[in-house]
Amino acid sequence: MKEKVEQLKAEIEQFKIDSAEAMEKFRIAFLGSKGAIKDLFADLKQVPNEEKREAGQLVNGLRQFAQEKLDTQKDALSSAQESAQGIDVTRPGDGILVGSRHPLSLVRSEIIEIFSRVGFTVSEGPEIEDDWHNFSALNFPPEHPARDMQDTFFIEKGDTPESEMALRTHTSSVQARVMETSEPPIRTISPGRVYRNEAISARAHCFFHQVEGLYIDTDVSFADLKQTLLYFAQEMFGDKAQIRLRPSYFPFTEPSAEVDVSCTICSGKGCNVCKYTGWLEILGCGMVDPNVLEASNIDPEKYSGFAFGMGVERIAQLKYRVNDLRLYSENDVRFLKQFTSGM
Ligand code: PHE
Repeated sequence: MKEKVEQLKAEIEQFKIDSAEAMEKFRIAFLGSKGAIKDLFADLKQVPNEEKREAGQLVNGLRQFAQEKLDTQKDALSSAQESAQGIDVTRPGDGILVGSRHPLSLVRSEIIEIFSRVGFTVSEGPEIEDDWHNFSALNFPPEHPARDMQDTFFIEKGDTPESEMALRTHTSSVQARVMETSEPPIRTISPGRVYRNEAISARAHCFFHQVEGLYIDTDVSFADLKQTLLYFAQEMFGDKAQIRLRPSYFPFTEPSAEVDVSCTICSGKGCNVCKYTGWLEILGCGMVDPNVLEASNIDPEKYSGFAFGMGVERIAQLKYRVNDLRLYSENDVRFLKQFTSGM
């Protein structure tokens, strides 16, 4: 028995497994149901009882030895095949991570698209602005308390208001620039980032984004303004959306109004988002003050216009129900990846 085991062990050791066929031959010869090791197990019956234990261990050890050789050769053979081909095309690929657009970019693009469908072009201007374009040209008199409506970050204190530089507090400054350099008819929107010196909280931030609009032509009326804003509200929030205008004050428009849209959540029935009023404030607007037209050398006797301005964060908040402004600038991927499908 012992010799037989030794002999088989030597045979197993010497057996060359260099192909799938050789491997199968090996399996049949040694480990198969009619193989040499099976025969040895049968021979065990003839072994005297007192030797059975030791002989059994020997045969078992031999079977294990053959099985291990088969397994290691199997692995070696398949990785050799893999590297011979270079790549294994059957392996699952690595997932490609697709980024997502920021919710504010999505809403900004949507606002631009809605207004471009009715003839508005896009204009842009500097974020560091002089006093003239941010305030004076827009009918904010020097030292007038209206300047306090927008807590300004000053960059450079000048001797005169005109030489003062600040981070723009609204993109109306871009419209002041457009009026200065172009002739009516003017129909433009100015998207961009604006800055106000406010403590950061869920409801306020030291920077946010606006889209402001300006339309100047002959015979532009308040009815045109109202209809344009109704069109916007229905494109943005669905064709059942309604708007209402409340009298307000801005130095650069007269008359001025604040615009509410019917609550996007309860459709005006009243819920905790609209504080049971059925309405949500979305923007400010009005007819361009004749002083503003004059400051830009546009004849107020001949032309009239309307202007409006909205916060992109506010519209995004209503659209996506984001109730903390800080989420927009914290770059938390758990927040951002929720917008993956919006392209
Ligand atoms: N500029 C105003 C603001 O930032 C919004 C506005 C624009 C109001 C145009 C009326 C007309 O609050």
